[in-house]
This record gives sequence, C-alpha cells and structure tokens, in this order.
Amino acid sequence: MFNPQLNNKGNLNHLLSIEGLSKDKIIQILDTAESFLKIGERDVKKVPILRGKTVCNVFFENSTRTRTTFEIAAKRLSADVINLNVATSSQSKGETVLDTINNLIAMNADIFVVRHSSSGAAHFIASHVKPNIHIINAGDGNHSHPTQGLLDAFTIRKYKTNFNKLKVAIVGDILNSRVARSNIHALNILGVPEVRVIAPKTLLPDEIEKLGVHVFYDIDKGLKDVDVIMMLRIQNERMDGIMLPSQEEYFKTYGLNQARLDLAKKDAIVMHPGPMNRGVEIDSVVADSEQSVILPQVTFGIAVRMAVMAILAGQHS
Ligand code: CP
Repeated sequence: MFNPQLNNKGNLNHLLSIEGLSKDKIIQILDTAESFLKIGERDVKKVPILRGKTVCNVFFENSTRTRTTFEIAAKRLSADVINLNVATSSQSKGETVLDTINNLIAMNADIFVVRHSSSGAAHFIASHVKPNIHIINAGDGNHSHPTQGLLDAFTIRKYKTNFNKLKVAIVGDILNSRVARSNIHALNILGVPEVRVIAPKTLLPDEIEKLGVHVFYDIDKGLKDVDVIMMLRIQNERMDGIMLPSQEEYFKTYGLNQARLDLAKKDAIVMHPGPMNRGVEIDSVVADSEQSVILPQVTFGIAVRMAVMAILAGQHS
C-alpha cells in the first residue's frame, strides 16, 4: 500500500502522522532521541549533523512549545533556521500555502515544519514537493501531531520502561484533539495493552472504540489503577456548536484533582501536552506535583525533534 511518508527506498522521507510508522521505526526514533538527550546537558549544546541544511518553521496556527523546541532542536543540530512569521508574510496578500512553500524551496530550504488549522495540510504539501524536501507535520487541525505522540511515548518509556504492561488514560477533549489521536496510534503500535479514553459523550468521536480504546464516561472509574494519565486541553477554538457545561462544571466532573489522582497507581505519572488550562482540566496542585512530568515532556521534545530531523535528512540510520 502507498505510504506517503516513505521514499522509493522505503526510508522515512516525511513525518506526517503516527499511522504508517512501524514499531521498529518508532523505537529507532526514541533510541536516537535518547542519544541526543545528553547534548542538551552539555556546556556546548551543538553537533554538526545538519550543518549546511536549512529548516523552515511555517506555523499558520499559534504555538509555544512545538515551534520553539523545533527551533532549538534544529540549532542544536547546527542547521540554519528560518521562522516564517505567517501573520506578516505575503499570506495576507492572498499567496497560497504551496506558493509560500515553493518560494522558500527556491531559497534552498531542506526541511519544513508545518502547523496548519486544516487537517491534511502537511500531507497536501508533502505530495507537491520534490523527494529531497522533507515535510514534518507539527499539527494539522484535529487530525495528527506526530512529534507530540513520539515525545509522549519517549516520556512514558523514561518513567515506566516497558510499554507492554501499562494502563494509560487519556482524559478530556478527545473529539478535537490531534494529540489524542497520535497518542492512541503510538500506544497501540508500541503494544500498550490498555488505552482508556475518559470524556463526556459530546467530546468523543463516533466509534472511537474502533481505534482500540476502552471508553469511560466516569472519570473516577476510568482512572482506577492506571499508570499514566494524559490530560487534554478543552479546545475552545475548535468547539463549533458543541454543548459543554461551564468551565467550573467541567472541572467538577472531569478535572484532575488530587483525590482523583489518588485513584490511579501510587507511582502514576501525569502528562499534559500544553497549553494547560489550570482550574479547567487540571488543578494546579496536580500540575505542579511530584507526579507531574509536564515540563520534562517539553525537554524530551527537543531530543525527539532532533531525532526526527536527523533521520529524515538521512543523517541517522
Ligand atoms: N503541545 C503543543 O503542541 O503545544 P503548542 O501548541 O504550544 O506548540
């Protein structure tokens, strides 16, 4: 079957989604990231792996973590980095996404990191560029956020070592979450035996069970004995017409507080991709607790993004 992420030699040429990645490829990315993690702890945080290459961050949607960690990752690999300011670019004069990308290719850019509010945007761009250009999906609509899925898997492996004995709960706005989709696929591929989703019916896609998850509407039941809790942000910007109670009511019914965290295993970790809405999906006491690995997720994201760029550029096999 045609896999748009692979080149004609079967190597990873673009990173567009977790679907289509083999378990071996995911493990290769995680192992490569592990070797890059140490670079961030050195005095001189740089290696020459992408020297002479140009990485363009093209974000049509806002970002703090993904954009900056891609920039740091590219700089640690010694690439030149361009951050296109989409708001002040010629997009405002009607230039198409493809024309913008093609102009940057004419400036000899090699790797594009693209975030767009439309699902499929990165796939569309990847299908229109030459094979020597690499496209990384940094989040497309509610479809996919593959490097978030990979850095979350890296984080779980760091704290829990073995994927094949874990219970993982993903809590909140599953319907609008590209992070949830990428994580469900990654955890299934990596052999996690029990992935739970916990949400009100209005925030769950139809037939979500078909993705291999157990559905819980009651958070107290869903959190029982889990090893990992992934909290998700309520995505107000994608809430077109969805009926939700007030933020206070949502926090009461689905927010993660200390009493609910105590239902999970004693050594459970708490994750959140950010940005967090404190007091809406997560209590500050939990977000800042010893069990929270929310900031380590960000640090690990740099190593994972270094690994992805090095592998795409053929500098790490
Ligand atoms: N996790 C994540 O995608 O955060 P940003 O929107 O800040 O990039």
